[in-house]
Amino acid sequence: MSNETDTATSNTTMKGPVLVLGASGSIGRHVVAQSLEAGFETRALVRDPGQVSLFPEGAEVVVGDPTDAGVLAEALDGTTGVVFTQGTYSDADAEQANYWPVKAVLDALKAPARIALMTALGVTKPTPGHDWKRRGERLVRASGLPYTIVRPGWFDYNEPDEQRLVLRQGDTHWAGNSSDGVVSRKQIAQTLIASLTSEAADHKTFELVAEKGGAQADLDLLFAALQSDADLDGPLDRDNLPLDAEPQDFLGDLDAIRNRF
Ligand SMILES: NC(=O)c1ccc[n+]([C@@H]2O[C@H](COP(=O)([O-])OP(=O)(O)OC[C@H]3O[C@@H](n4cnc5c(N)ncnc54)[C@H](OP(=O)(O)O)[C@@H]3O)[C@@H](O)[C@H]2O)c1
Repeated sequence: MSNETDTATSNTTMKGPVLVLGASGSIGRHVVAQSLEAGFETRALVRDPGQVSLFPEGAEVVVGDPTDAGVLAEALDGTTGVVFTQGTYSDADAEQANYWPVKAVLDALKAPARIALMTALGVTKPTPGHDWKRRGERLVRASGLPYTIVRPGWFDYNEPDEQRLVLRQGDTHWAGNSSDGVVSRKQIAQTLIASLTSEAADHKTFELVAEKGGAQADLDLLFAALQSDADLDGPLDRDNLPLDAEPQDFLGDLDAIRNRF
């Protein structure tokens, strides 16, 4: 199977199914559609049986909670790629939505898979919601799996002539409004899917925005220009979430996942 999206990447194959978490969401639905278009066997994991009809023909749908071991055994069977797009805007359920599914999937994987994790531009600005997204990022980086972490700007706030993707590092924009950067949902999904088969995207974390200009044909060039992650954070991230002040449960999760693969 080859990647046949209109965005070129190095043409590594995705041999098994791609599982999409948060598949019912505003990004997840684009990811499912684009994964199918790329020629990947595609599974959507949803919590509500009423969401089965959301997806194009060809998508497999698994219904259940993404932290349930039995559900994940079915959803992850043979999987070679996982895209996380689930999440919440609320601090109240941030741990449950932003973190638990990441931990549960990494725990449940029986063989290595390529990971694409969507968090958010501004994730290093401390808030309960951001911190749980950042802990999910840290688990992925510690796992020993190949991965890409995409931190998108404001969804669909781009003007029609803002299609030129800009990949930033260091999470330098903290205004908390669309002046931080904007990008279309479609291009977020495209980037997540392209990363799965790109060697140049492995072990990279970046903020994703779009500026005035046309879309690039080759995302590999953009991925290749980035610094790789060396440790638990993005390479230029502010060092403002010290491990020795992190919750004990999270530190236990981190120890358990380290070099599991
Ligand atoms: N809007 C922006 O500009 C922007 C920019 C950057 C990042 N983000 C981040 O993007 C994330 C998703 O936003 P969205 O607009 O796509 O939201 P959305 O359309 O509401 O989708 C959220 C998805 O997450 C799932 N979900 C929610 N809580 C969950 C839980 N406890 N366990 C498992 N899955 C859960 C939902 O599943 P159900 O259908 O089952 O509820 C749904 O599939 C948010 O975390 C947000 O911070 C947003």
